[in-house]
Amino acid sequence: MKGIIAFDSVNGNTKQVAEAMAEELRTAGLETELVFLKDGASSPTGDVLFIGSPTRGGKMTKGTARFIESLDVEHWKNKPIFVFDTVGPLSKDEAKRKSQLEMIGRGGKNAAVKMSDLATQRGLRVRSPVMHFAVVGMWGPLAPDALTLAKEAARSALASVSR
Ligand SMILES: Cc1cc2nc3c(=O)[nH]c(=O)nc-3n(C[C@H](O)[C@H](O)[C@H](O)COP(=O)(O)O)c2cc1C
Repeated sequence: MKGIIAFDSVNGNTKQVAEAMAEELRTAGLETELVFLKDGASSPTGDVLFIGSPTRGGKMTKGTARFIESLDVEHWKNKPIFVFDTVGPLSKDEAKRKSQLEMIGRGGKNAAVKMSDLATQRGLRVRSPVMHFAVVGMWGPLAPDALTLAKEAARSALASVSR
């Protein structure tokens, strides 16, 4: 089984999340390829796909949209796809941030929900949960617990498709 983590990142925060997830998947024994969309990725193939983007103006980046639009639907249509984004700036207080992340999850103004919608329109199946990770300033840095949460989320996503 092979995992792909395809991500965009302007200031490096989403990149750090993607790298932490890749590390976790590899630790769990999954061969994992990291694909930085800035490097002009074509449609990669594998068995499980994670797609990540910063939220900018309530949306995913153009590079992320182009990537989802160019995904090989025949290859990916019956395979698990997960989406994640980074959002902010959220509170430096952990409890407050947790409830802000839950609120974001219920709304639509974030990259990950839009990514899920776009992929679904293309006939792809995006698995729950749609994942959000926090930055505490407009350009970062990531919240102190973001990488730990990203690793946990990657591990449980993998477990949900390996059963
Ligand atoms: C121009 C700009 C617009 C942004 N718009 C949003 C937004 O609409 N919603 C949000 O939650 N975060 C927004 N952010 C915060 C980004 O999501 C945050 O900086 C993100 O972690 C950046 O990821 P990156 O470092 O991988 O580029 C914005 C940041 C910038 C610089």
